Amino acid sequence: MAPEESAEAAPLLRSFERRFLAARALSSFPWQSLEEKLRDSSGSELLLDILQKPSGDSVTLSESTAIISHGTTGLVTWNAALYLAEWAMENPAGFAHRTVLELGSGAGLTGLAICKMCRPRAYVFSDCHSHVLEQLQGNILLNGLSLEPNVAALAQHPGHDTADAESPRVTVARVDWDVVTVPQLAAFQPDIVIAADVLYCPETVLSLVGVLQKLSACQKDQRAPDAYVAFTIRNPETCQLFTTELGRAGIPWEEVPRHDQKLFPYEEHSEMAILKLML
Ligand SMILES: C[S@@+](CC[C@H](N)C(=O)[O-])C[C@H]1O[C@@H](n2cnc3c(N)ncnc32)[C@H](O)[C@@H]1O
Repeated sequence: MAPEESAEAAPLLRSFERRFLAARALSSFPWQSLEEKLRDSSGSELLLDILQKPSGDSVTLSESTAIISHGTTGLVTWNAALYLAEWAMENPAGFAHRTVLELGSGAGLTGLAICKMCRPRAYVFSDCHSHVLEQLQGNILLNGLSLEPNVAALAQHPGHDTADAESPRVTVARVDWDVVTVPQLAAFQPDIVIAADVLYCPETVLSLVGVLQKLSACQKDQRAPDAYVAFTIRNPETCQLFTTELGRAGIPWEEVPRHDQKLFPYEEHSEMAILKLML
């Protein structure tokens, strides 16, 4: 292959490779026992049961195999991201035709699931880490969504506000909770703010409450956005610190009823919660 031909073919090959790998059968899926059950089953009940399981769109992700790499936890998908995505898919009306701002998006699973299943008007993925932002952009493109270059471009398509718009307007923003300002947050015009697995140490808890306080000053149609924070209860003291700091910041909260919508495989024993915050 001539050098210019190989340069042209490289993105195509990469795209093919990703899609091919994503389409591989899950080795952990119990194919053998399924086949045996299908052979033994006299009626069509088992097949019907399989066919009636939730299906539809899929999310393809490129992510790290290490829990922490490049000094960040954001290159892998955490359990609370899956739990929050499941809850969102159970409550799509809360997202439909609204602008969602996600804090600490990481690899992007929650947002991609919401974009594909809950029909938001616009979705702002955000994070503070360069590698995470780069991987996030790749994952969004991998899932066939097109990216707006910045938040200003989100607002430049008035026709896209219509209820029957096919896919949301999507952008990725660098948002560091410690340095972002109220006007910068207000420019996203969020109706709803979400975050998953961002309560893992006291420092991040304090930073998160700080950005939530700034968001409470971002009024749209005379009201602040709704906010939902999902987390795995690893250390009760960290969760306690979060609710204490919310109280100190004057942000009321309530726990969202637990859901048992298990669409994704994750550790059975990890205890998860979602708090709804009244900003
Ligand atoms: C444990 S990961 C969770 C990622 C994703 N939400 C998930 O659940 O899979 C935490 C994320 O929060 C981001 N983060 C931590 N501190 C941050 C800050 N001060 N500003 C913005 N993002 C931050 C990290 O970069 C990382 O992507």
